[in-house]
Amino acid sequence: MKAKVGILISGRGSNMIALAEAARDPACPFKITLVASDKPEAPGLAWARDHGLRTFAQSPKGLPKAEYEAAIDSALRAAGTEYVALAGYMRLLTDDFVARWRGRIVNIHPSLLPKYKGLDTHQRAIDAGDTIAGCSVHIVTEELDGGDVLGQAEVPILPGDTADTLATRVLAEEHRLYARALADFVAR
Ligand code: GRF
Repeated sequence: MKAKVGILISGRGSNMIALAEAARDPACPFKITLVASDKPEAPGLAWARDHGLRTFAQSPKGLPKAEYEAAIDSALRAAGTEYVALAGYMRLLTDDFVARWRGRIVNIHPSLLPKYKGLDTHQRAIDAGDTIAGCSVHIVTEELDGGDVLGQAEVPILPGDTADTLATRVLAEEHRLYARALADFVAR
């Protein structure tokens, strides 16, 4: 039986696409139940729809946060979701949502955690004079980017790298790492 994974996105969803493509392999231990977004116009949602995936969009505008999250939660559950994968989902989850999916929410973060939690990870790594950057897949807890790390990939920082050039190379690694780490996690 394949693990049932719902994906939350806010934007282009390239990590979601990497997971959806990995899931097409018959040997992959997970399948995608739903792609949901807080941004009805997210390009990743259109991709998901065009590729036959179930989608759901709920703007949080004008709604109490609990009500917005309840809508996302119901859509995930109605689709039979067992695990939630955040893929460029740019909203903080409430403690209540995290508690309801305890140990079953994962995220991809563009740094070698515990370094550079939060935003602007690539610029911060360059500014610190680091020579190695990378990405991490981790369990989501109430602490921002703070849960157990499930897997990491390193990417060298090259002379002349900008946040953008580094982000492009890290993103390619994110796509490989996320599918692998999620497969290992659900099959553990
Ligand atoms: C990625 O860099 C991811 O690590 C971060 O947000 C970005 C999302 O990109 N959390 P995409 O929407 O998956 O293309």
